[in-house]
Amino acid sequence: MGSEKTMKFLEVNGLTSRYSTSKGHVYAVDDVDFSLNDDESIGIAGESACGKSTLGLSIIRMLVGGKTNGTISFQGKSILDISESEFDEQFRWKKISMIFQGAMSSLDPVFTIHEQFVEILNQHNFDGNFTQTIHNTINSVGLDVNVLKKYPHELSGGMKQRTIIAMALILKPKFVIADEPTTALDVLIQAQIMNLLKELKNNGMSFMLITHDLSVLSEIADKIGIMYGGQMVEFGSSEEIYKNPKHPYTQGLLDSIPTLKDKPPTFVPGTPPSLLDAPIQCRFIDRCPLVMEKCTQLPPPLKTETGYVRCWLYEKK
Ligand SMILES: Nc1ncnc2c1ncn2[C@@H]1O[C@H](COP(=O)(O)OP(=O)(O)OP(=O)(O)O)[C@@H](O)[C@H]1O
Ligand code: SF4
Ligand SMILES: [Mg+2]
Repeated sequence: MGSEKTMKFLEVNGLTSRYSTSKGHVYAVDDVDFSLNDDESIGIAGESACGKSTLGLSIIRMLVGGKTNGTISFQGKSILDISESEFDEQFRWKKISMIFQGAMSSLDPVFTIHEQFVEILNQHNFDGNFTQTIHNTINSVGLDVNVLKKYPHELSGGMKQRTIIAMALILKPKFVIADEPTTALDVLIQAQIMNLLKELKNNGMSFMLITHDLSVLSEIADKIGIMYGGQMVEFGSSEEIYKNPKHPYTQGLLDSIPTLKDKPPTFVPGTPPSLLDAPIQCRFIDRCPLVMEKCTQLPPPLKTETGYVRCWLYEKK
């Protein structure tokens, strides 16, 4: 993946993040590769516990209790090699930020929204105009500045989520990792939040949108990475993945999306593998309808037009 000569906006190679537990190492992200060009966004999809949040947290270097190896190059700078203070001063929130999974419930109930914005700016030694910056940011997510006087419990779910998004945007990052930003919201609010992200993308921001629901990615993601058992089993342009999914797991995920057409959704039977001492062969073996003898060997990541697929079905003859 790293062989292209032009500099990528984001290039992730061999990324592995593991947690140490009393039972052994949990390889929550295992040898993940992908890259994005300028102004591209990526959608990450896969079942619960496949490593999506760990991938996001690894990129922003906020993995708690875990260790990350591999390389991440952001705008040409290798960001896993630099010191914590350099990353914090130059990258975290300023260039790369994250909307954390379930962050809505982490708004502090005893402070107004305005006080919470001020706290964030203070934490990052912001030396610009606080009021103007907060007002511009809150407006950019479609909220009225009156929200700033309120306490979290006075906001609806949609308003809280917009507030969380505004907090991630306040230092004008170029790349935002949005981890399940629409989960727990009703469908209308979900659509509003997705439209907001789309608008922000059109204004030059790039996203990593993490979701267990592949259907929400179509409008935001230029590239899609499908995660299974800690690995990215398929990566490519969203067009290619939606039109011509290659990995049997990607096919299963797409078939599980309810549509208005006659075809009822189907589900991938079985459960995901344990990430403790995961096997070296294909992790989808136990659930794959197309499993072959050679699948018990190492599954190669094979090149496709815009990415790769970890599956023996596409072995070059
Ligand atoms: N701090 C931790 N210590 C040990 N194991 C962890 C820790 N955090 C996550 N894990 C494990 O790592 C694996 C991946 O977790 P992760 O939260 O990245 O999955 P996910 O794809 O984001 O799931 P979900 O869709 O439910 O949010 C899971 O097996 C989880 O139990
Ligand atoms: S490598 Fe084999 S078991 Fe794994 S997804 Fe491909 S066909 Fe199925
Ligand atoms: Mg998660």
